[in-house]
Amino acid sequence: MEDRLWVWGGRPLEGEVRLPAAKNSVLPLLAASLLCSGPVVLHGVPPLSDVQQSILLLQALGCRVNWQNGGLAIQPPVQPPCGVLPAGPVRAMRSSVFYLAPVLHAAGRVSMPMPGGCDLGPRPIDIHLDGLVKMGARVAWQQGVLCLECPPRGLHGADITLRLPSVGATETLLMAAVRAHGPTVLRGAACEPEIADLADFLRSCGAHISGAGSPVVWVQGADRLGGAEHTPIPDRIVAATAAAAVAGTGGQVLLRRCRGEALGQVLEVLRNAGCEVTLTQNGLCIARSGPLQGVGRVYTGIYPAFATDAAPVVAAGLLTARGASAFEDTIFENRFSCAEGFLAMGAQVRRAGRALEILGGGRLHGAEVTAQDLRGGAALVVAALAAEGESRIGGLCHIRRGYADIAALFGGLGAELGVCAG
Ligand code: UD1
Repeated sequence: MEDRLWVWGGRPLEGEVRLPAAKNSVLPLLAASLLCSGPVVLHGVPPLSDVQQSILLLQALGCRVNWQNGGLAIQPPVQPPCGVLPAGPVRAMRSSVFYLAPVLHAAGRVSMPMPGGCDLGPRPIDIHLDGLVKMGARVAWQQGVLCLECPPRGLHGADITLRLPSVGATETLLMAAVRAHGPTVLRGAACEPEIADLADFLRSCGAHISGAGSPVVWVQGADRLGGAEHTPIPDRIVAATAAAAVAGTGGQVLLRRCRGEALGQVLEVLRNAGCEVTLTQNGLCIARSGPLQGVGRVYTGIYPAFATDAAPVVAAGLLTARGASAFEDTIFENRFSCAEGFLAMGAQVRRAGRALEILGGGRLHGAEVTAQDLRGGAALVVAALAAEGESRIGGLCHIRRGYADIAALFGGLGAELGVCAG
């Protein structure tokens, strides 16, 4: 029987969180290590299940991967990899798409089934593929398996305008461009901090990149990249999750290493809800002692707008607010799978198209609920922390993709919760 999380809610949170390295940095960075002919060390990597799946992919491609003082050391393959990615890890996460470009460079070809990941609605990869085709790759689908092949002299640089600013496609094309022949320009690129982090790592390996983190990125391809040691940026979505929980429960928490600008509009919304947010030398302090207020309508969007990944957790923190709130996701169709669990806890919510509407004013009580996806699952934990009585949350496999140990995260802040069998 699968584990479940029990949460005895209703206690204010107090203490400090040391933020782990960002999942959305670590996963592309692990794939990018394949572009390097020297060893790579990534510091402070959380043991997420998506990280474990990435390790399986790297090992299948011939890399040696070792945990080392909380970080990961990756040795490049001794021989060129075969280019066939194992279906299990590929289907377990969306981030297997990051292996397309590095494996194309390493093996000249790559084949894999369609990447899996959270069911947030349709998640095509056409922007990744269109860009790679512009750089010379040939693409074919053979019985549901995606096959890409390099031209005989390898990928070449290109001037590429992205149809929309996809985070993953910007990262794929950055990884393709750093080892392509000649210059590349990416226009309409996504600007998320994790893209700048990937570029920083690649630059320490010897890549020539400018403009990463802005809509236009210039790259001059290099024949070879060396290895590097890198400390990925802190996880802004884990920060948003802890901050949203403080909004829901009250209390005061210091988010160590948290950079306010990375959270952008999330902090503004929490301030409007009645939280005090203070930037200190050590990080960001979030507190709530007064009443929680509804925040009106919030739209998610591309960085620096309100992060789509933060929407379910912040919504969960505001379920008991006086006055209405609504979160409308402009990026994904099915962001609020957690609505069902919120209803079971007594929240006054309804889904309307891509939005979650919170009528507000209600009290929450413990309930038996099931996580349907990663951030929706974390949102159920946040709601359970604010609820009176005991909740049991199933579907922990989704939550473990992005939170190494959510019980330890909130247990360290004084919450009563733990994992139990069945
Ligand atoms: C990344 C993040 C994810 C976050 C999302 C949006 C990682 C590992 N994951 O996911 O946590 O929720 O950004 O901030 O960094 N699209 C296409 N064609 C494509 C690619 C994307 O139509 O080829 C669409 C998607 O369906 C979606 C939108 O573009 O509607 C944004 O997706 P994208 O930015 O690519 O998200 P991911 O990189 O998958």
